[in-house]
Amino acid sequence: MPPVWDAEVPSPYEYGRQSGELLDSIADLKSQLQSKYVEQNGVVSSLNEQSQHENGTTDPDDNDIGLQEIIVDGLCRTSDKEVPYRFLYDDRGSELYESITQLEEYYPFRAEIDLLNEFVEDITNHIPDGSLIVELGCGSAVKTAHLLNALIARHGRCRFVGIDVSESFLNEARCNLMLLVQGHLTVDLVPADYIGGLAQVRAKYPNESLCVVWLGSGVGNVSQKDAIHFFGDILDAVKSRCRLFLCTDMWKKEEILRDAYQDKHGVTEAFIRNGMSHALRILGHEASTAEELSSVYEVDINKQLKQVEMYLRFPQGLAVPEHGIHIRPGERVLMEISRKFTRESIQKMTENVGFHLQSAWHNQTYGCQMLLDEAEAITQCWQDTDVLFEGILDWSLKPIDTRHPFCFYYGHLAAFAKLKLFADEPAEDIDIMFSRGMDPLILDPSQCHSRPETPAEWPSRDQIVAYVSATRKKILKALHAGQFKGNHKLITFALEHERMHQETLSYMMTQDRKAAFEKTMAAVTAAQLPPTHISSIDPPSTMSIINALAKSKMVTIEAGPVVLGSDPKETGFMWDNEYPQFCTSTSSTFWVSSRPVSVGDFHRFVKEGGYENEKLWDAEDFAHFQEKGYKYPATWSLVEKEFFVHEFQSTNHWSKVANQPVFVSLSEAEAFCKWLGCRVFSEAEYQRVLDVDPAAELVLQMRAGGYEWTSTPFQGFPGFEPMSEYPEYSADFFDGKHFVLKGSSPVTHPSLKRDSFRNYYQKQYRYAFAKFRCCR
Ligand code: AVI
Repeated sequence: MPPVWDAEVPSPYEYGRQSGELLDSIADLKSQLQSKYVEQNGVVSSLNEQSQHENGTTDPDDNDIGLQEIIVDGLCRTSDKEVPYRFLYDDRGSELYESITQLEEYYPFRAEIDLLNEFVEDITNHIPDGSLIVELGCGSAVKTAHLLNALIARHGRCRFVGIDVSESFLNEARCNLMLLVQGHLTVDLVPADYIGGLAQVRAKYPNESLCVVWLGSGVGNVSQKDAIHFFGDILDAVKSRCRLFLCTDMWKKEEILRDAYQDKHGVTEAFIRNGMSHALRILGHEASTAEELSSVYEVDINKQLKQVEMYLRFPQGLAVPEHGIHIRPGERVLMEISRKFTRESIQKMTENVGFHLQSAWHNQTYGCQMLLDEAEAITQCWQDTDVLFEGILDWSLKPIDTRHPFCFYYGHLAAFAKLKLFADEPAEDIDIMFSRGMDPLILDPSQCHSRPETPAEWPSRDQIVAYVSATRKKILKALHAGQFKGNHKLITFALEHERMHQETLSYMMTQDRKAAFEKTMAAVTAAQLPPTHISSIDPPSTMSIINALAKSKMVTIEAGPVVLGSDPKETGFMWDNEYPQFCTSTSSTFWVSSRPVSVGDFHRFVKEGGYENEKLWDAEDFAHFQEKGYKYPATWSLVEKEFFVHEFQSTNHWSKVANQPVFVSLSEAEAFCKWLGCRVFSEAEYQRVLDVDPAAELVLQMRAGGYEWTSTPFQGFPGFEPMSEYPEYSADFFDGKHFVLKGSSPVTHPSLKRDSFRNYYQKQYRYAFAKFRCCR
């Protein structure tokens, strides 16, 4: 009997105050620090207060001609008047900002702490031993202390350079680090702006690998255009051997953003107003205190630019005639923007200057990403490929019969990169041999797209390794010689191609694992050894399976407009099938299961004869599955009447992974859905779920843990044009036999995790890490 689905409307997501371990520990440490300071200095004053208030009301910026010019420039415009956000941070502004971070509604501060708390171990995993940690705007360095402690725990030592314009913050940082970091830490502090500071660091440490850390989503306060320049300036200043740990607040529901920037206590309003009085004070304007300014605080959520905009409106206008400033009555001045990001916008902002995403850590609201400069990114990608191939003992094996043996793919990755990066050089025979793989029609393997002839014998492993190593040297040499300068998209193209194949290799290796497992188990059984490891496993109770099925709720999604694909102007590199944007809609309300169909659910389908029930299948799929003898998913083994499930690096009795998503072909997914009176959702419906609430738990799950099958045949969006670098990439598969998959699998590289990304496989293809959910 199919389970009864409960219709449920997703509750609006709210971040809410969370007291993560680190938040608590920071609060503790801060109070420890303060009492230590009091003990040592005999004064009742926090470190912050000490550094910020020693000058009373005198502001060192006052009367600075350069600063005056910057302010006048923004306020003298006839329209779009603005004050640059740097003026928000005088002593009082810094204090107010500190209060903002403690507000219930201001989620980004805690979200970053929670994320660092959760993933600090893995983050340090991506910072090589010996790297110099360079923090931009280190402030009091309290959050950084946590990262540094984790690095010391991993590598036994750590070297840190903090850059900040504020000397008082640098002093505070030194003091905090001494008290908060245990172990071998060296600290160097540079009073400078970010880029000037980075240039000084590079001059002082010419050969070091740098890990530049930018916490606090500070990049959100910089316009898109300025940010792109800024990242370019970072690379120019550090030259090479650079990775960037960048933290960003992500785009989310309007209500959450509005509350965070228009808090009920009016702290953000005071912060913004203080910025205006600071700017006016620098101009020598007499009504320079916040209270004296008659202005109205306004917050706009700009959906198009995905940013929060903070304004002051002047109902009576304001004039500073000595500087030619005339704010008209009712006119408003932009004081700050806070941009909120998507994976696409981060990629666009960074990749266009030559930073490539290596890893990313996200929770529902916030993101941290490790970006590598071009040479580092390429080298890292090759290293990841090599690690995979080192795990394959026999390169001549062909774990998927319609594909080539493992050895082909090692050669292919190098050949592909070489042919694309040096497209105007003549190709060698070996380049051609490895230039393209194969994907014949499953139901008629005699039909296959164009490809080079398969050789009677592939070159030996040593020959292929020598070819790959020579090709890699050639690429690095050209890169260092500046041959690809400014052509970051071409590099991304080659990198993404290799990253996709790393995923393909992972599921091929899973099939290899399965074959080895079955062989070993057969040998064990043949030798009539007691299969203790099987009988020791408790059979799952029927109740636990039924409970698991019942846990899935049906979520109601109203009909509405949907935009598929991405605008190339908004995104970095994309494959041709991801654009142009296509506006469509879902025509009626639908329900989608809150979790994907699990191993446990599917086990029941298998046990209840789903593979033998012809009514559930398309006729040709049924015939194919029967002919091949497929009676359960490709990642499962049946040994002694017990099912085992193979993942990339593990094998488990099915009951141990009963709640994990099951990985199957679309044909199997559709049969299962038909069994339950449901169906697989379409690509537009997938996107519609994303659009309703991009930060909802359901959406986060849909994006990860396995690609999601859709029932949509793979086609180009209207206006599709094949990409010139690789015209066959998509167009060869617009055959009605391939279907779209969305999201990502557990082994998908972060650089491929964007909502516009479209994977595609034939309906009967059983090997990909692809899940599905029920829709009605
Ligand atoms: C520092 N920066 C990331 C803060 C933000 O959220 O954009 C500044 C801020 N402005 C108003 N509230 C907080």
